Amino acid sequence: MQIIHRLAELRKARAAFSRGKLALVPTMGALHEGHLTLVREAKVRARHVVVSIFVNPRQFGANEDLGAYPRQLERDCALLEPLGVDIVWAPTASEMYPGGYATNVSVAGVSEGLCGAARPGHFDGVATVVCKLFNQVRPDIALFGEKDWQQLAVIRRMARDLDLTHPQEISGSPTVREADGLALSSRNAYLSAEDRARAAVLPAAMKKAVAEIGAGKPVPEALKRLVAALLSGGFSEVEYAELRDAESFELLTERPTDFARLLVAARIGGTRLIDNMEAWSG
Ligand code: PAJ
Repeated sequence: MQIIHRLAELRKARAAFSRGKLALVPTMGALHEGHLTLVREAKVRARHVVVSIFVNPRQFGANEDLGAYPRQLERDCALLEPLGVDIVWAPTASEMYPGGYATNVSVAGVSEGLCGAARPGHFDGVATVVCKLFNQVRPDIALFGEKDWQQLAVIRRMARDLDLTHPQEISGSPTVREADGLALSSRNAYLSAEDRARAAVLPAAMKKAVAEIGAGKPVPEALKRLVAALLSGGFSEVEYAELRDAESFELLTERPTDFARLLVAARIGGTRLIDNMEAWSG
């Protein structure tokens, strides 16, 4: 497994993989089972696998956790090596954004609302870095998690709109969860033991709301009960709890007649957690 920090070196290593498909799994490191599941899937789907590890400053707001975000490259590489990863692409910030860097990729529509409303500029940062990663690595397949549903939609839109030929396929994988249902996230490490135990109310209350909506109960009331369950269960704030059309992202206030998604962002002990679930599968 090669660990590469410079773009020129990456290009050379990439050129050596001219035969067989190449898959890219973009990450910000602090790897957990959610990331590793994507890497295992990449290994099944392609002959060569590149994992990028880059804590992307452009997708963090001024008051967000860029400085505190866990950085553990050595540990991450030790987790990736046994999975048969070919290249860990770990550029420095100045390699990714050299002096004079001036370009921004902004995806309207899907970037608005939900996390886009609470984190202005976040999805521009994501679209910009992922566009660069696609051009740097030139993968045939790129794998992302459904855990970040809106991010996946933004990246798919960006690739379509910019006529990107690499990758030809952007694949979304189901969210990997702890035994109590909490979605794995690098940010779970910020939680105290007590808050970690209480955080399981998030997937539990979402599952309940999904069942209620599926049973035909009015959507606004189901969402209100979900918010109340989170606030009484130890969350300090619910940023959003919305039902959206899974494709168009249109806000739904009535029982869905097509694939829908329940999406929630909420804070516990100062940590912002997000989750989403299919709300009705027809
Ligand atoms: P990061 O949060 O490190 O996540 C990297 C990838 O792992 C994303 O596609 C994310 O959706 C996926 N992932 C995270 N938790 C998961 C879980 N519990 N189950 C399944 N997949 C999970 O997302 C980012 O990094 C960045 O925004 C990035 C796309 C790398 C751009 O900087």
